[in-house]
Amino acid sequence: MSRAVAYAPGRVNLIGDHTDYTGGLVLPVAIDRGITVELDRGGRRVMLTSDAFPGAADVPLDVAEPASMEPGWARYVAGVVAALGPAEGGLGTVSSNLPSGSGLSSSAALEVAVALALGFEGDPLTLAKICQKAEEIAVGVPCGLMDQLCSASGRSGHALLIDCRAETVDEVALDPGCSVVVVPSGETRQLSGSPYAERRRQCETAQSQIGPLRDASVEDVKAIDDPTLRRRARHVVTENGRVRAFATAMRSGDLVAAGGLMIESHVSLRDDFEVSTPALDEVVRSLSTRPGVFGARLTGAGFGGCVVALTEPGALGAGWPIKASDGARLIQG
Ligand code: GLA
Repeated sequence: MSRAVAYAPGRVNLIGDHTDYTGGLVLPVAIDRGITVELDRGGRRVMLTSDAFPGAADVPLDVAEPASMEPGWARYVAGVVAALGPAEGGLGTVSSNLPSGSGLSSSAALEVAVALALGFEGDPLTLAKICQKAEEIAVGVPCGLMDQLCSASGRSGHALLIDCRAETVDEVALDPGCSVVVVPSGETRQLSGSPYAERRRQCETAQSQIGPLRDASVEDVKAIDDPTLRRRARHVVTENGRVRAFATAMRSGDLVAAGGLMIESHVSLRDDFEVSTPALDEVVRSLSTRPGVFGARLTGAGFGGCVVALTEPGALGAGWPIKASDGARLIQG
């Protein structure tokens, strides 16, 4: 029996939400909290207990229906087993210092850490794609690639400009004159059962009318008759532009411009994409009038979770300043 220890971080997205699944641009940061899986490899089952989730995951390597496993978190483990097809299972533990249900990608971190512990070998993009598939198998959420790819390829001190169509990752150094602060809204959420899949379908319908949103202009979007679809598409098209502009602003140290783009992104997610909540809006509103805050927005899928703020270092008493961190790794094994 061999012992494996794998760690995968969560992420916070600075800008570019609900753009990844139409091949758009995103700019997340791998954070200094994550999930560790320790596994004594061997046998034909994966058996894990956790300090963060109740019950035990007990998944046979030939698992037939990952989506019906109990307890709920075992579905992510089962999704990875089904998507990866590891040669052997193992007995071990999951430990986490990443809050779940907060929009900080605890499910992606769990998937990536489990895949590494089960012996995945290869590049971060392949790892991310296996784990993206695992998420869909596990809970039926047709997520994009952002969370898993950020967890797999994070870089200390940097955000990652990910082009989800070209599947490329460019590092963007975070200006030392700013802090990235995560502020919980107090509402947790789960993507399964949320309107996430509906939003994705709406984007696909918009694309069937005007072609890839990644290539569309605000002018093109006006040709969409249905007002709801038009607003969804307008969010995606303008958000892709904001990601580009944010990366340029961060690279040139223009934190005021970067913060302004975050506020615009929040307004677009609130009004055009309709994934904000009154609690998220209130956190963004109160942060954005505080001295030393360049900007703030909901981060991740929305429907609850966290706000991300860009601030002068130490400007906020509230929230949790994150350290941009390296991506997932096998610590032992
Ligand atoms: C979730 C999904 C991602 C992405 C975000 C919204 O985190 O897992 O793929 O779509 O929502 O940007």
